[in-house]
Amino acid sequence: MTVDELMDILIRCEDAWDSPDKTGDPVALLDHGLQVAAVVRSWHPDDPELQVAGLVHDIGHLLNPGDEAGHAAAGADAVRPLLGDRVAGLVELHVPAKRYLATVEPARGLSPESARTLELQGGLMSSDEVTAYEAHPYGAAAVILRRADDLGKVIGLTRPPLAELAAWRPVIERLVGADRP
Ligand SMILES: [Fe+2]
Ligand SMILES: [Fe+2]
Repeated sequence: MTVDELMDILIRCEDAWDSPDKTGDPVALLDHGLQVAAVVRSWHPDDPELQVAGLVHDIGHLLNPGDEAGHAAAGADAVRPLLGDRVAGLVELHVPAKRYLATVEPARGLSPESARTLELQGGLMSSDEVTAYEAHPYGAAAVILRRADDLGKVIGLTRPPLAELAAWRPVIERLVGADRP
């Protein structure tokens, strides 16, 4: 994958939704990714990998429409060659992070679509799964991504999306050019 190819995928997300029939979350995938990335940037301005993970975390819904359970892994596999293991790992963990948060913070609300798909994605975690999650090197950062994920579903907040997306291109290009461990 090249930066151009990733940008093309994100542009196609302008008219793609997390469920093909648009019965899921109320914003298009690009709008959602932009909102999540902006929230992450406001919380962690010095972590462009986490910000870009927020931008791209749901592209699996575009790549494999209807695959709720597999969308995180599909997105991670797609971006790993370009964006590296940490961004891919954060993308992959955004669904386990949802299960983790729903387990350890049961009073926390989910959007109706997130609640519906939680069971498809494995439901609540066992205590062993919680322990394993907390030991994952990207686990804590993926929780941040997931908290932003839940806030990035505001109808009409992101305008105009393609101009906002263009502003992320230099951030992505710096990441691609950066030395990664
Ligand atoms: Fe997702
Ligand atoms: Fe999301």
